[in-house]
Amino acid sequence: MTNTFKIQPLIAQSALAGIANRKFCQQMFDLGAGMVTLGGFPADRLNCKASLKMEERGKIEFIPPVKESEFSEWFNQNLLLNKRKNTQRTAVNLRIVTIDQTTEKWLKSLDGKIDFLELNAHCRQKEVLSIGGGERLLNNLKRLDLLLTNISKLLQKTELGIKIRGSSVGDKDALINILEKQQVNYIHIDSMLKGENIADIQLLKSYCDSTDIPIIGNNSVRCIEDIKKMMKVGAIAVSVARPLITHPNFIAELIQQLEG
Ligand SMILES: Cc1cc2nc3c(=O)[nH]c(=O)nc-3n(C[C@H](O)[C@H](O)[C@H](O)COP(=O)(O)O)c2cc1C
Repeated sequence: MTNTFKIQPLIAQSALAGIANRKFCQQMFDLGAGMVTLGGFPADRLNCKASLKMEERGKIEFIPPVKESEFSEWFNQNLLLNKRKNTQRTAVNLRIVTIDQTTEKWLKSLDGKIDFLELNAHCRQKEVLSIGGGERLLNNLKRLDLLLTNISKLLQKTELGIKIRGSSVGDKDALINILEKQQVNYIHIDSMLKGENIADIQLLKSYCDSTDIPIIGNNSVRCIEDIKKMMKVGAIAVSVARPLITHPNFIAELIQQLEG
């Protein structure tokens, strides 16, 4: 299968659980983002339970319905976006560790209505780690492989991407082998330098040099120079998250600088 990953402009809004809802992502499309990422959302029973526990300690979580009869209306209320250009793309970031019946029905109901399902192998909230989810998947490659196989079986018209925390990967080559075998359409890498608030450009480069899967560079993109550094080492696009919480127009400013 040829990789059809294409977004334009080459700047994406990265997932922000509890914040990146339909209204937020629509604003990102209106401001010109090449790709928006709704969520993250818990997409199986175990992750929904984890989200409820996270809510108990004050986090805001987006929790999808469990009844199939509610999926369609919920989609229209929470995920339906209006693209301004046909080169813009919609991703939905999902936390999944097992495919239960609800997951199966929900994923099938999303198929074809979004461009990318972005599997979350990035979260490090303790409730998610304790069920083997989020970044734990990066060091349980058997589980990740099986999960990707099972998710792919459910999706006919939606492509698969993955969000990873680069610094948490144990065996990069083994991970890439699996992602290539699974024909993942993009790898979205939070390239944070461990313990610092800057991107590790060498880490990003090491992924770009190791695979032909398109790579979205993420973490601490705050000016045009940061974008250029990531693209110079091979990232096909970059993404931004935290600055957009208080300054949504930041995405338009970056796009304007990139595209002149
Ligand atoms: C409040 C908040 C919620 C987040 N939720 C998610 C999420 O659900 N899924 C995910 O993959 N990343 C999530 N992230 C990580 C961001 O998408 C991004 O990778 C990270 O903030 C680094 O990018 P930045 O420096 O541009 O903020 C979240 C970050 C924040 C601050």
